[in-house]
Amino acid sequence: MTRRDPRFVCQTCGAKRPRWAGKCDVCGAWNCITEETPREAAPKGLGKGKGRALNFVDLASAQGGVARYLSGITELDRVTGGGLVTGSSILLAGDPGIGKSTLLLQAAGALAANGVRADYISGEEGIEQIRLRAARLGLTQAPVRLATATSVRDILTSLESGKPADVIIVDSIQTMYLDTLDSAPGTVSQVRGAAQELIRHAKLSGSVLLLVGHVTKEGQIAGPRVLEHMVDAVLYFEGERSHQFRIVRAVKNRFGPTDEIGVFEMTSAGLAEVPNPSTLFLNPERGPLPGAAVFAGIEGTRPVLVEIQALVAPGPPGSPRRTVVGWDSGRLAMVLAVLEARAGLSLGSSDVFLNVAGGLRIGEPAADLAVAAAIVSSYSKRPVPEGTVVFGEIGLSGEVRPVSQHAARLKEAAKLGFSLAIAPKAGDGKKRYEATSAKISLSGIARIDELVDLLAPTVEAGFAGAGVGRI
Ligand code: TYD
Ligand code: MG
Repeated sequence: MTRRDPRFVCQTCGAKRPRWAGKCDVCGAWNCITEETPREAAPKGLGKGKGRALNFVDLASAQGGVARYLSGITELDRVTGGGLVTGSSILLAGDPGIGKSTLLLQAAGALAANGVRADYISGEEGIEQIRLRAARLGLTQAPVRLATATSVRDILTSLESGKPADVIIVDSIQTMYLDTLDSAPGTVSQVRGAAQELIRHAKLSGSVLLLVGHVTKEGQIAGPRVLEHMVDAVLYFEGERSHQFRIVRAVKNRFGPTDEIGVFEMTSAGLAEVPNPSTLFLNPERGPLPGAAVFAGIEGTRPVLVEIQALVAPGPPGSPRRTVVGWDSGRLAMVLAVLEARAGLSLGSSDVFLNVAGGLRIGEPAADLAVAAAIVSSYSKRPVPEGTVVFGEIGLSGEVRPVSQHAARLKEAAKLGFSLAIAPKAGDGKKRYEATSAKISLSGIARIDELVDLLAPTVEAGFAGAGVGRI
């Protein structure tokens, strides 16, 4: 009385359907439905002493932690949670041309300099091309072994013969193929099959496997998405092509924290570490200007200060323009609506442009208040007082809500010489907010109209600030 499973399965989302189609109607992906042979009925009598008994061990262990290789590139070691864990596999995903090969070649060079045996296998570039890049990076003498190959069988044969490498870099997984599979390199089954074999080798030999994966805009057939479940860690390499900084972000890590970032700056001699990212996104020389507010944000576990710029300008009647770079346009619409409804600003007919300086992309709701401050400042043509940072989440009723890591944000701001923070007012957790640095004073606000009163008292009737000095 078993019901037969539908035999056509979407390879992207796993949805089952009775017949083939070009497009999956559950996840919307194209050309992803393949036929799978239905599983035969489970053998009878499972669990009756027919299998092998598992070997349970105690959770507590006398040995401390896992073995890791440190690359010496602090920003990379930070995102991996303190170095590359032996036997683990890591996927570095990013747009083509963002700098993945450069980063991994630099990592290979740094690891090799520390005495770690690193093999760099490229399926995309020739040896001479890699040597040229190494010369640009100043790595010509690094004891890294290079090879070009696309056949997983050849790669495994070479890796298994001779002394095993400590770190194996495969650039990129989309170019690899298994000759046991029919489909072309880059297809889901090839990417999955090739990765499976390479990961199995890493687990057995104790080598670290670093895989490069391309992401395309369309969310393509063989994106590294299918790989995310298979590897131990997924790092995304992000950045705007037109800007010089790059961020490596850990989105999954079985051996460390996720949401950790490593910040690099692109130079002609490769990626340079940026130990203090705030310096990249702030412009200390320039005096205060209307429409700019400094947001004290958190990227991963690290506070990052970044300038948010707004321009409110009268637009042609009809449909005002709202343009956002580096933030969510839906959230901008919300902040504008709250400013209008709860603080009485009339923004409905104005064009509003918002930009996060330096090309950073902010995802935190804590930026709401800084965005509002930039808009109020541009609207009123009054600069936000010099040396001020802003953070806080804004609710629809106009309340300013507390955000996480309050103290860390204040500490970073104080460290960089800021003297005032406009931030959520202490609610019940008053002590938490008071126990911060003495170097920075706090102007706590509970409602959005208090921000307008503080920054632009002439715009709205109300109390004129809370004893905050203005320039
Ligand atoms: P590349 O590492 O080849 O990108 P990916 O492997 O992700 O496709 O880098 C792309 C180009 O950018 C390449 O021509 C080298 C250049 N580049 C620099 O000049 N400096 C840098 O710091 C980086 C990261 C890249
Ligand atoms: Mg590359």
